[in-house]
Amino acid sequence: MQVEIASPITKGQFLEIRHQTERICESLRPEDTSIQPIDYVSPPKWHLAHTTWFFEQFVLTEHKENYKVFKADFAYYFNSYYNNIGERVIRADRGLMTRPSLNEVLDYRAYVNSHMAEFLEHVITKDLAHVIEIGLQHEQQHQELLIYDIKYIFGHQPSFPKLDYAINLKPASWEQEFIKIQEGVYNIGHQGDDFCWDNELGNHKVFLHDFEISNRMVTNSEYIEFIESGGYKDFNLWHADGWEFIQNNNIESPMYWHKVDGKWKYYTLQGFQIINADLPVSHVTLYEAFAYAQWKGMRLPTEFEWEIASRQLNFGQLWEWTNSAYLPYPNYTKAEGAIGEYNGKFMVNQMVLRGASIATAKNHSRPTYRNFFHPEMRWQFSGIRLAR
Ligand SMILES: [Fe+2]
Repeated sequence: MQVEIASPITKGQFLEIRHQTERICESLRPEDTSIQPIDYVSPPKWHLAHTTWFFEQFVLTEHKENYKVFKADFAYYFNSYYNNIGERVIRADRGLMTRPSLNEVLDYRAYVNSHMAEFLEHVITKDLAHVIEIGLQHEQQHQELLIYDIKYIFGHQPSFPKLDYAINLKPASWEQEFIKIQEGVYNIGHQGDDFCWDNELGNHKVFLHDFEISNRMVTNSEYIEFIESGGYKDFNLWHADGWEFIQNNNIESPMYWHKVDGKWKYYTLQGFQIINADLPVSHVTLYEAFAYAQWKGMRLPTEFEWEIASRQLNFGQLWEWTNSAYLPYPNYTKAEGAIGEYNGKFMVNQMVLRGASIATAKNHSRPTYRNFFHPEMRWQFSGIRLAR
């Protein structure tokens, strides 16, 4: 029998996280929220609705007595990838939905928020408290995705609009040094009772050889040197897939970079600007990170090296590409049903990034967190840390 407890998440905490999503979108115009410029960029309106659907589907519909869904079709419109839940609009077609309108989606948010707020005042099972926690962590992951997507939407139009939401990289003011880590057997994975994703569980041992890791990220000025010295023209530096990718897509610099009258400029959420040489280089693919490391005669750290070194690293500005494939840890177990689709089914053909970015919610930053993307992705806030 399930133990019933007072919800460990208060109504106030719940609504605070939900309102944060709306704050990110506050300076958008309705037209900005419907567009899907490329298949992997979802319309902001879709994020607003999908994060709401998550609570409606997994909490209210299944557990709140006499709950009436806001609109019966919304499960079809706003399910992302849960095959256990049913059919849905395919990902690449999210931008075709000019209806429901932004106002209807905001009404949907308010409706689900009020039902959730009421629901949180009652005792719930421990398992259900965990699902609500997942819903909030999920919402915060979408807050980060929203920022990537808004940047893509704004950064690919001639007027380069600004987002009225503070998000800034800081320069590393310290000299570059390489931190030495001794060879040995180390524990990897999450321990303790605080929240983590299933992909961090399965604490296990790995053997690491001696290695060294940089105490800071690669900067824009260092990356410009790589470009200017022909880094994008030397196939010897690249993976075969990476070389093909940059050839087919005419890539000669990170995303958002443009050379104007001989000067490198880039789009930031504060507008189109001259590149700040001291900031860490961002919006690079794994292929570019790898080629840059090759050019320096170094390499990217593995995710295990990164985790062990993390206690001594200053991280959290950009997700850091590692040279590790995204795979299950030993003893990884997938949860039953739809929630099991959250991480497990993506463990093929992707690479792990560690750390966090300036767009990441604060409580998501921990040494064991495993982010993952396909190697050619670069709209996320990704950067490069060298190892040797
Ligand atoms: Fe989602």
